[in-house]
Amino acid sequence: MHFPHRHLLQIEGLHPPEISALLDLAESYVLLNRSGKTQRDLLRGRTLINMFFEDSTRTRTSFELAGKRLGADVLNMAVSTSSVNKGETLLDTAATLNAMQCDLLVVRHDQSGAPHLLAQKVDAAVINAGDGTHEHPTQALLDALTIRRRRGRLEGLVVAICGDVLHSRVARSNIHLLLAMGSRVRVVGPPTLIPAEAAALGVEVFHDMRDGLKDADIVMMLRLQQERMRRGLVPSSREYFRFYGLDFEKLSLAKPDALVMHPGPMNRGVEIDSAVADDPVRSVIKEQVEMGVAVRMAVLDTLSRKTRRND
Ligand code: NCD
Repeated sequence: MHFPHRHLLQIEGLHPPEISALLDLAESYVLLNRSGKTQRDLLRGRTLINMFFEDSTRTRTSFELAGKRLGADVLNMAVSTSSVNKGETLLDTAATLNAMQCDLLVVRHDQSGAPHLLAQKVDAAVINAGDGTHEHPTQALLDALTIRRRRGRLEGLVVAICGDVLHSRVARSNIHLLLAMGSRVRVVGPPTLIPAEAAALGVEVFHDMRDGLKDADIVMMLRLQQERMRRGLVPSSREYFRFYGLDFEKLSLAKPDALVMHPGPMNRGVEIDSAVADDPVRSVIKEQVEMGVAVRMAVLDTLSRKTRRND
């Protein structure tokens, strides 16, 4: 298994064989999960701490499930009731975790770079579960696994990432991963929601959905992240849906078999029409959630190998 890193903090900088190795291992966990079996001896005696300073449903629960299926002791730190609210700094929290001899630390934080800082201070392997507007590496891996299983490859596919790219760590991680694996990436959205550096990253920029979706293989929709917007960057939700919401009419411009993706949580009727989101043929949104568990099992397995006993 070719993965020389101690932590998983970002996709940027990972080499294609390292990404492929994680996806190949995740593939085997998809099969294990579907068979209803577990592998509880793999991380037996290991401690995984989920530390979420921001809301999460699927990411936190899928890390919890992934850890438990591999036999780890999983602890969810309830940050809102912990000493963090009493003013304990991130680094004091890290020292506490070190004293508890935690093996794997999964961190979500509203500040970009927080997991990197923690990684310098804790003995555990740190996994970034989303930091500010920076990266969300396991989301990009699960998206890639979903695409690869459906299309057999990533190379040469046209992937349109649409909507609030500016605030999206999901978009940033996906851009790095997909470009590294040879996909053609487009970002589509209003000028106020496309980061200035987008073109420099090597993606094509579109402000009109009709142009951006034309002949796309994959249409990846993003949530409008109102909570990260300092001022009105978009008009009303209704107006936004009219121009940038994905409905069947706009989807008809993509390839006839184009797949629809969304990392969740969705704002139905804002960035995506319910009928498209729930379409059993075109939408792979539920499959993304399933792949999330397998990818996180692969990441936990890989990062714990370095320190695993009897290895
Ligand atoms: C994303 C996140 O938190 O970055 N959600 C997720 O992890 N599935 C995207 C979002 O919040 O819109």
